[in-house]
Amino acid sequence: MQDIRFVPATSFKKKPEDPAKMGFGKLFTDYMFVMDYETGKGWHDARIEPYQNFQMDPATAVLHYGQAIFEGLKAYRRDDGGIQLFRPQANFARMNRSAERMAIPKFDEEVALKGLLKLVEIEKDWVPAGKGTSLYIRPTIIATDPFLGVHASHTYRFFIIVSPSGAYYTSGLAPVNIYVEDNYVRAVRGGVGFAKAAGNYAASLRAAEIAAEKGYTQVLWLDGVEQKYVEEVGAMNMMFVIDGKVVTPMLNGSILPGITRDSILTLSRHLGYEAEERRLSIEEVFAAARAGKLDEAFGTGTAAVVSPVGKLCWKGECVGISGGKIGPITRKLYDTLTGMQYGDLPDEFGWIVRID
Ligand code: PLP
Ligand code: COI
Repeated sequence: MQDIRFVPATSFKKKPEDPAKMGFGKLFTDYMFVMDYETGKGWHDARIEPYQNFQMDPATAVLHYGQAIFEGLKAYRRDDGGIQLFRPQANFARMNRSAERMAIPKFDEEVALKGLLKLVEIEKDWVPAGKGTSLYIRPTIIATDPFLGVHASHTYRFFIIVSPSGAYYTSGLAPVNIYVEDNYVRAVRGGVGFAKAAGNYAASLRAAEIAAEKGYTQVLWLDGVEQKYVEEVGAMNMMFVIDGKVVTPMLNGSILPGITRDSILTLSRHLGYEAEERRLSIEEVFAAARAGKLDEAFGTGTAAVVSPVGKLCWKGECVGISGGKIGPITRKLYDTLTGMQYGDLPDEFGWIVRID
């Protein structure tokens, strides 16, 4: 395995004094992990170096054709002061699946994990203490050829930046209102929906803007073929509690296989709830709501954690859920997941990687 070089910084930033005011993804630390790729040479020169701007030729491929993928995970501070990561191997495995779809060369997941552990170890004083706060970790790969031909780049940069953060939604655990999008679609069969491709997020922004103007926090996407089946929300997978059962759309190639989704399904079953992954039509969700059987709804994601949904609106019809409060199953799953992430509950599934 390649060694990881260390380039010391000569100046250091001031750390945030009030964790409550950090927001999400706005502050970055003193160092980052970087490695480069070149055809014939492979991934090389893994290093931890001072956080700094990249210099780019205006013709750089990623700026024109969007060959870029990313990941999101977190480091948590335990009450004993130690630090731990949640399922980082799953993020690097997913990143390599995204890489394959976007014609980006795969990387050695062990090197990436080693680099991440070293980076978090070096930056450990930046990991905030306090429930709801964490060090958000953003691994990214971009195409770097300065060339305007439309084909896969021959050079790439892999980097990991880290950001001390608070809650993703400013509302915290208060339920969010969601607009079911019936015009635009996010992903189609055979497309890149399952990959964490940067362009998926660019494609979602216009619908999110329109929904925000109408007072909604997020857009719920329907399938790109019939606009009939529930897919996911902008930055979260969706779960519904229908007639006592946890139900989530099955993985179909167009939704992101969320690591939180997978963890919540495992925890639901472990806690004794029935949990189903299947095709779920939006009509079924609304019919359940009209019949008083839509007990709870929530989104799952690394940044969003477990976010209760208080209201869903589709084609002019709105349904309230759980009386606009967090429901009991959502609460139990939130407490169990975050309990494991912050080290307050035992790691029963081998999900935790401790830094110290
Ligand atoms: N769906 C989308 C589109 C996302 O961006 C995310 C966030 O990463 C998720 C779902 C949830 O995935 P995970 O739980 O792995 O963070
Ligand atoms: C995450 O939950 O980590 C994400 O990547 C979602 C979003 C912030 C893009």
